[in-house]
Amino acid sequence: MPVQRETLLIVDDEAAIRKLLCQKLSSQGYQCEETYSAEQALNMLETSPIALVILDIKMPGKSGIELLREIKSGYPDTAVIMATAVNDINVGIQCLKQGADDYICKPFNLEEVSLAVQKSLEKRRLQLEIREYQQYLEEKIEEQTGDIRKLFLGAIEALVSALEAKDKYTGGHSRRVTDIALALGNELGLSRQDMEDLRWGSLLHDIGKIAVDQVTQNKPDRLTREEYEHIMIHAHVGAGIVRPVVNGKITEMIEHHHDHYDGSGLHQVIVGSDIPLGARILAVADAFDAMISDRPYRPAMSITDAMDEIRRCAGTQFDPIVIVAFLNTVRLTKM
Ligand SMILES: [Fe+2]
Repeated sequence: MPVQRETLLIVDDEAAIRKLLCQKLSSQGYQCEETYSAEQALNMLETSPIALVILDIKMPGKSGIELLREIKSGYPDTAVIMATAVNDINVGIQCLKQGADDYICKPFNLEEVSLAVQKSLEKRRLQLEIREYQQYLEEKIEEQTGDIRKLFLGAIEALVSALEAKDKYTGGHSRRVTDIALALGNELGLSRQDMEDLRWGSLLHDIGKIAVDQVTQNKPDRLTREEYEHIMIHAHVGAGIVRPVVNGKITEMIEHHHDHYDGSGLHQVIVGSDIPLGARILAVADAFDAMISDRPYRPAMSITDAMDEIRRCAGTQFDPIVIVAFLNTVRLTKM
């Protein structure tokens, strides 16, 4: 006896056969529905969950084989047993190749029909259980990946904070740049994955400063060309540090975060839209935060002055599209 009342659908143009099968299978506890045509069967599948279909091959109109294909593509969780008019193994094999779970031959031996139904439903239950378990495992993996990512992100944030704590001028810079960059990314309609990459790229963008001489970095006077070049190695060094642990997009973002849109940056190899969008966003966020913060060589600028300066550099240092997003964002949030 079945554990639960699974619904079976008998599709046969002969009313006597439908009645015979329905009687037998109902007596075994199954919920039995019946219909005389393929078209009608599809309507019934559309409106109610059917566990198994017993399908006559030869019917007027759409044949059982045609309907089998449609059931298997539209309702893959429904088992199908084909009913053939003759005991022809080739027809049976053909049905199995087309996706049928089993086949039975007319005239029916009702015990064999019952056994075929039981076996096909058991196979279906197992398939559903396996799928459910796979889904459970996938959800579990996704959850654990999220936990690992959070832990990793926490560790990186701690490392960045430790690095910034050495320098009284840059405390909290990466965190603020991340907030600004994400606001710009949001305004530009970045995908979820691109936003995630942008978060990492922003947090890590200055990690290469670990290799920069502290005295030069905190120099209160104007930097010489040599000193400026030394400080700017941090973009390349940073990309090298993070390369083994983050994806290529994040690495590229860090490598190019000081590139100028018009190509006038130091030792720049790519220009304009060839510069990754994340790096172009980061350039604006980084510059804005730097302008409104005190630096060893100058006091903080006002937000209005910083915005004017950023706007003035649209098309030269910065991507004009990012500038539009930046101005919209500032206008909306009064950053
Ligand atoms: Fe930087």
